[in-house]
Amino acid sequence: MSNIGSYEKRRENFNWDIAKEVLGWKEGEILNIGAMCSDRICAQGKGDKKALIWQGFGGKQKTYTFNDLRVLSNGFAKFLQDLGVEPGEKVCLFMDKIPELYVSFLGVLKMGAVAQPLFSAFGDESLEVRLLSADTKVIFTTRKHVKKVRKIQDRLPALEKIVVVEGNPAKLRDEEIYFSMEDFRVEDFTTFESDAGTPSVLHYTSGTTGQPKGAQHGHGSVWGQALTTSWVLDLKEDDIYWCTADPGWVTGTSYGIIGPWSLGVTQCVLDSGFTSAAWYQFIQDNRVTVWYSAPTAIRSLMRDGEALVRQYDLSSLRHLASVGEPLNAEAVIWSEKVYGLAFLDTFWQTETGSMMITNFPGMKIKPGSMGKPFPGIVAGILDLKTNEPVTEPGTVGLIAFRPGWPSMFREYVKQPDIYRSKFVGAADDAMPAELRLDESLWYVSGDRASFDKDGYYWFVGRDDDVINTGGHLVGPFEIESALVEHEAIAEAAAIGKPDEVNMEVVKVFVTLNPGFEPSDDLELNIMNFIRKRLSPLAMPQEIEYSEKLPKTRSGKILRRYLKALEWGEEVGDLSTLEDD
Ligand code: PRX
Repeated sequence: MSNIGSYEKRRENFNWDIAKEVLGWKEGEILNIGAMCSDRICAQGKGDKKALIWQGFGGKQKTYTFNDLRVLSNGFAKFLQDLGVEPGEKVCLFMDKIPELYVSFLGVLKMGAVAQPLFSAFGDESLEVRLLSADTKVIFTTRKHVKKVRKIQDRLPALEKIVVVEGNPAKLRDEEIYFSMEDFRVEDFTTFESDAGTPSVLHYTSGTTGQPKGAQHGHGSVWGQALTTSWVLDLKEDDIYWCTADPGWVTGTSYGIIGPWSLGVTQCVLDSGFTSAAWYQFIQDNRVTVWYSAPTAIRSLMRDGEALVRQYDLSSLRHLASVGEPLNAEAVIWSEKVYGLAFLDTFWQTETGSMMITNFPGMKIKPGSMGKPFPGIVAGILDLKTNEPVTEPGTVGLIAFRPGWPSMFREYVKQPDIYRSKFVGAADDAMPAELRLDESLWYVSGDRASFDKDGYYWFVGRDDDVINTGGHLVGPFEIESALVEHEAIAEAAAIGKPDEVNMEVVKVFVTLNPGFEPSDDLELNIMNFIRKRLSPLAMPQEIEYSEKLPKTRSGKILRRYLKALEWGEEVGDLSTLEDD
C-alpha cells in the first residue's frame, strides 16, 4: 500500500511512520544505519542476494551479497573497536569508489562512530581543512591516496591512526596500519544502540564565506532516505540500481548506500572514469533498471549523441532521475526521445539529507521544473527582503522548508551560530535550542525559485556566490585562500563562469605581487597549484589578471560585480563600491 497512490493521496495521508512500514521496521529494534543496510536484510532471508556489483578500471568485477556486507562490515566495526575508537568519534573514509569504501561506511556506523567520507580527488589542503574541523581520529585510505595524508598528518593533532585498506602493505610506514577487509570476516558483532539523533554521517559543504562547514546527520535520516528511495526512485525488490554519485558527496551516501541497501536492493558501482560508451556498456552488461545521475553527465551523454545510444541494449532501464543542478527542459525531452524515459528532477542539499522537491512516477512532469515538495515536506518561497512566505505564483524568492523532516542535518560541526543563521521566522531570543524540530521556523536553503499555480517549483539560481560545477559545490573562499598562498598572487576573487556541460566552471581574477608578470607558464602553474591543493573541480579554467579588484568600502572583494559582468547581467547597486 505504501508504494502506490497519486501525489495528492500520498500527501493527504502522509506520516513519516510510513517509512518504518516500508522498511518493515518495528518499534524496539535498533535504529542503526549500518545494521539496517546489512544485518536486517539478512534477517529478512535475503543474505544471499547480491548487494553490490562493483566494476573498476579495466573491467575488473567483484560481487558482494548482503551477507558479505554483514560480516565484512562487522570486521571493520570490530577492527575500530580494537583500535580504541569510541562511539561519536569521526572516522574519515578517503578512497576511490572501491568496495572497501561502501563496506567500511556500514562498519563505522555499526560501532557507533561517525562516517566522514571525503572525495578522493581532494588535495592535501582540502583534506586538512575538513579533518582538522572534525577532529577526525582515524582515516581509512589506500596506497594511492595515503601520500596526501602523510603531508598533513603533523598538523592534525586529533588524527591517531592512518589505516590503509588497499595497495601494497610492504610500502607503508611503520606507524601506518594495513587492514585487509577480505581477511577479516566477523560473524557476530553487537551493533551500537544508536537512536534517531545519534550522529551518523558527516559531509562537508561549501558556503560563500569561510571554510566548508560540516553538516552532521543522525541515524534517523534513514526514514527520509528510504521513503524517498522507495517513492521517488521507485526501487523495488528486483531492481538493479545505479547511482552514479561518489560517496564523497551526499548523493553518494544517501542514495548510493543508505537508500537502496536499507530496502535490500541490489546496486552497481562503476569506479572508472566517465565516457558515454563506458556508461552505456555498464548499463547493458548489468541490466540496470533504475539510474540516478546528474545534469552534467546527461549533457555529456547528449553531446555524444543518439547514434551511440543505438549501439547498446538499454532496454532494461525503466526509471531515470537526476539531482545536483538545474535539469534543463531540453535534457528531459532528449532523454525521453532517446531512452524512451525522461530523467525526473529532484532537488535537495547536503543539509537536507534527502530529497525535498521531487518528480515521481505517476506525477505529471513539467520539463524544466524541479517538481513538487515530497509528501511530508512543507516547502515555501520566502520574500527576498522580508522572509515572509510569498503567496503569488511566479514570485521569485528563497526556497525554504519547515524543519523537522527525519534527515535534516543536526548541526554544523563547531559552528552553532552559522547553523542558527540558516533558520528564520522567530525573534532571536525566541529561538529554541532544538531548532530542527520547531515548525514555526523556516530552514532557508540558499537557492532562489518560484512556484507556479499548480504548485510546481522552478529553480532560478543560488542566492550566494557558491560555484556549482558539474553538480559539486565549490566555495569561492576556499579557492581564494589557496590562491593567495601562491607566491605570485596578491589578491584573488573566484566566481562561477557559465559552461555548456558543467553549468559553471571556476574563473579567477588575480592581482600579482611585484616582480611577477602574466604568462602562459604562470597560468599553468596556478591552475596546477589549485588542482593539487584543493581538487580538479576547484581548478580555475580561466585566470584573468587585473591591476585591481573591485571592493566594498570595508575592503570586501565584490564577487557579485565580477560575476554580473561575466554573465552579462545587470550589475545592480554599486553604491558600496570603493571608487564610486
Ligand atoms: O544549488 C542547489 C543545487 O545544489 C545545491 C546543493 O548541493 P549539495 O549540498 O552539494 O547537494 C547536492 C546533491 C543533493 C542546491 O542548494 N541543486 C541541487 N539539486 C538541484 C539543484 N539546483 C537545481 N536543480 C536541482 N534539482
